[in-house]
Amino acid sequence: MFNKRTKIKDLLTTEATGQEVIVMGWVRTFRNNQFIALNDGSTNNNIQIVAELGSLDEATIKRITTSASMKVTGQLIPSQGKGQKVEVKATAVEILGDSDPEKYPLQLRNRPSLEFLREIAHLRFRTNTFGAIFRVRHSLAFAVHQFFHQKGFVYMHTPIITASDAEGAGEMFRVTTLPPENAPKNDDGTINYKEDFFGRSTNLTVSGQLEGELAATAFSEIYTFGPTFRAENSNTARHLAEFWMIEPEMAFYDLEDNMNLAEEFIKHLIRFAMENNREDLEFLAQRLVEEEKQLPQDKRSEMGLIEKLEFVLNNDFTRITYTEAIDILLQSPAYKKKKFQYEVKWGVDMQSEHERYLVEKHFKKPVIVTNYPKEIKSFYMRENEDGKTVAAMDILAPGIGEIVGGSQREERLDKLTKRMEELHIPTEEMWWFLDTRRYGTVPHAGFGLGFERMVLFVTGMTNIRDVIAFPRTPKNAEF
Ligand code: 4AD
Ligand code: MG
Repeated sequence: MFNKRTKIKDLLTTEATGQEVIVMGWVRTFRNNQFIALNDGSTNNNIQIVAELGSLDEATIKRITTSASMKVTGQLIPSQGKGQKVEVKATAVEILGDSDPEKYPLQLRNRPSLEFLREIAHLRFRTNTFGAIFRVRHSLAFAVHQFFHQKGFVYMHTPIITASDAEGAGEMFRVTTLPPENAPKNDDGTINYKEDFFGRSTNLTVSGQLEGELAATAFSEIYTFGPTFRAENSNTARHLAEFWMIEPEMAFYDLEDNMNLAEEFIKHLIRFAMENNREDLEFLAQRLVEEEKQLPQDKRSEMGLIEKLEFVLNNDFTRITYTEAIDILLQSPAYKKKKFQYEVKWGVDMQSEHERYLVEKHFKKPVIVTNYPKEIKSFYMRENEDGKTVAAMDILAPGIGEIVGGSQREERLDKLTKRMEELHIPTEEMWWFLDTRRYGTVPHAGFGLGFERMVLFVTGMTNIRDVIAFPRTPKNAEF
């Protein structure tokens, strides 16, 4: 068997008694023809390999370059040097793959910028920053399943290809096998999708919610966790064209139950990372401090990363209505000094500058905003008594803005059909969705958590392109 290795993370906490071990990994540094810092991605900490002077031949020494891969057999011994408890005294060093130091693009010594690393996203996992980010991302994904599993929710895999627009916002990527040059046409010149692969026009899903609702009206509580796609042309540090979303959907829930679940869920994710990724979070906290040194004092975070996460865990999220939020904005010094670029008045969709004012300047903690005007929200949200607002809720997080969007759903068939008609959403094509309201309709609610925005929040990173392995954004689908 080839792989009898021990992971470096485990070796570093093993008691060294001279026992034989096998390690494999990629070279980070090589000093004095003798000391190799080896990393295998299980932790940011390297294991030090010590080769006795003269034990390595010239040819091997030449091949021990940054990012070359190797297998080392040796004895695990207490380290004589500073900085590590144990090290491996090599008895055999085998190069598995060479890495030409003249060509290898990632030279760690001169601290590559995040922008540069995006251009070599295939190699950036080999840096400490991305090692930490992606181990935290993994943990958060695991914690998502753990949270819902413990509560008895059923995990639904909703389709990636759909014929409907779940958000009704028209920001979809079309899926077709028709030839772009000579697609079959109808008499009026439009493309005849009856000839297309699915016999109709289809697109990549923007949300699994509608299918989630179908399942929730049988299992009571379900969640989805999958990729979603939006063709919105937003080239910001918060938007991706392909992102991962977690969408729980619960029967017998009202808006308040929904908010309670969302808050508990976010706290669970944070707590899980704090308990399981302490080392990586401390590294990221330090990274943030370094990064913010370039900023003027008043632009730096008031709290360190760990402190911020603890603060969020230990405090309730503030809950306000949209109407209250608009009033706060109108009363704010920022508004009076005309600091906002976009208009503030009842009825407008809050822009990121407004959301960030509320969470970062006014409340200084996560805020749940409820009961938005129905005109700026999706067709499926439940209409409130006032006839003007819907039972929506968005969670806004410091440094991020909107992290969760959700609502109680309109379970009343007549109201739902009327709203769909007003918005020109084809009720005949959505017969299956409306059937849930025909056969045993129930009050129900759900929300969507943008997974990458959650990873941003927990890692303290500021650009969403740095928390997904291979970001898809306008004009960019490399790798
Ligand atoms: O607010 P949104 O559009 O809500 C929905 O899709 C609902 N169907 C959710 C539900 O009720 N089941 O999106 C939900 C979340 C946002 O709050 C945001 O965190 C994230 O998804 N999100 C994006 N993340 C990255 N890039 C984008 N382009 C995003 N659009 C939304
Ligand atoms: Mg939203």
